[in-house]
Amino acid sequence: MRTQVCIIGGGPSGLLLSQLLDRAGIDTVVLERRSRDYVLSRIRAGVLESGTVGMLEKAGIATRAHAEGLPHTGTYLAVQNTGFRIDFDALIGKQVLVYGQTEVTRDLYDAREKAGGIVIHDLDGVELHDLDTDAPHVTYVKDGTTHRIDCDYVAGCDGSHGPSRQAIPKDVLTEFERVYPFGWLGVMADLPPVSHELIYANHPRGFALASMRSPTRSRYYIQAPVDDPLDKWTDDAFWDEFRRRLPHDSAEALITGPTIEKSIAPLRSYVADPMKWGRLFLVGDAAHIVPPTGAKGLNLAVSDVHYLFEALTSHYRDGDDHGIETYSQTALKRVWNAIRFSWWFTTTMHRFPGQESFDQAIQDSELRNLQTSVNAQTVFSENYVGMPY
Ligand code: APR
Ligand code: PHB
Repeated sequence: MRTQVCIIGGGPSGLLLSQLLDRAGIDTVVLERRSRDYVLSRIRAGVLESGTVGMLEKAGIATRAHAEGLPHTGTYLAVQNTGFRIDFDALIGKQVLVYGQTEVTRDLYDAREKAGGIVIHDLDGVELHDLDTDAPHVTYVKDGTTHRIDCDYVAGCDGSHGPSRQAIPKDVLTEFERVYPFGWLGVMADLPPVSHELIYANHPRGFALASMRSPTRSRYYIQAPVDDPLDKWTDDAFWDEFRRRLPHDSAEALITGPTIEKSIAPLRSYVADPMKWGRLFLVGDAAHIVPPTGAKGLNLAVSDVHYLFEALTSHYRDGDDHGIETYSQTALKRVWNAIRFSWWFTTTMHRFPGQESFDQAIQDSELRNLQTSVNAQTVFSENYVGMPY
């Protein structure tokens, strides 16, 4: 088989890139190891930056997001059980859209199917070849047979454990990492959200986040040791701990009940540099991971897709390779800003093992500064709503 851009990974990065390129008349094949149902069973974050929403519009898949998503013009931060609000709309005239990443992925699969796009599922053994030549190719195994795809470019959209990043020689790749000494215990519950906007709470017992998927579905998190056995966290234990960390008025308003999903996720920051090697481009989680504080993961994947889409269309339409040559530097500049913001937000909001009274006082002061300084709130809003591309 031959295609112009072979895309490895059918998560949001790979599917969005495929959808946009297809609309620009550029041919793609997407190779996804898992089934569509498996990909759509993964629960991920749910806050879309305004730029991300613009990209979904550009890809022609924003109808359901606009109909069912919840526009939020601000968010609450809390410290020591007292909350305050940051009003993005008043400060910078922008908002975010609360809409689950799983739903974005579903909308993308539906659009690819409708357009007759090629997405090959349930395969194994993806290998990338001749990336440093003008004629790369990709091989994979499906139903016991090895297949070969010749292409102009390979887009590595295969998440943090995929083969694309591994294909870059070790002496070319520099990796940056910070592992945080705690995890997030998350629950989903078919209960009305405790607040109409998100609450990020700093508390002496640890961080808590009240989020949502809809007016009837809540998504809540608490900071917890990453190796805590899940059976320690009965629903009652979760609700008790979550309630203790919320602002007092929200704690009183909290409606509890059975949860429908519960899991603990680790937190880390990671960047791979460069994001381009020969004819290979890394996109999304294949190149970087952020802790979930601030919900930058999907949004960062979408900005990579934006830069790569612009670069590939300039190449095919105008014969201009400037965007291709500078993809890594351009994408990494925005990546590092989100890495910095999510690291700062994580560090400011969580209880670290061995944290001393000094560290607590600095966190309190940081949050007081945010509560009282319009300038600090403006900087927070710009970063939370998302820097322009
Ligand atoms: N061959 C083919 N596909 C693979 C392989 C492989 N060897 N390894 C991984 N994949 C697939 C995975 O099954 C997954 O569906 O690549 C896809 C990568 O998708 P994601 O992990 O969702 O990454 P990405 O599309 O970059 O999305 C980034 O999603 O993962 C979240 O927090 C992340 O929000 C961020 C966003
Ligand atoms: C979520 O709704 O899952 C969510 C929201 C905001 C975050 C992280 C996760 O910062």
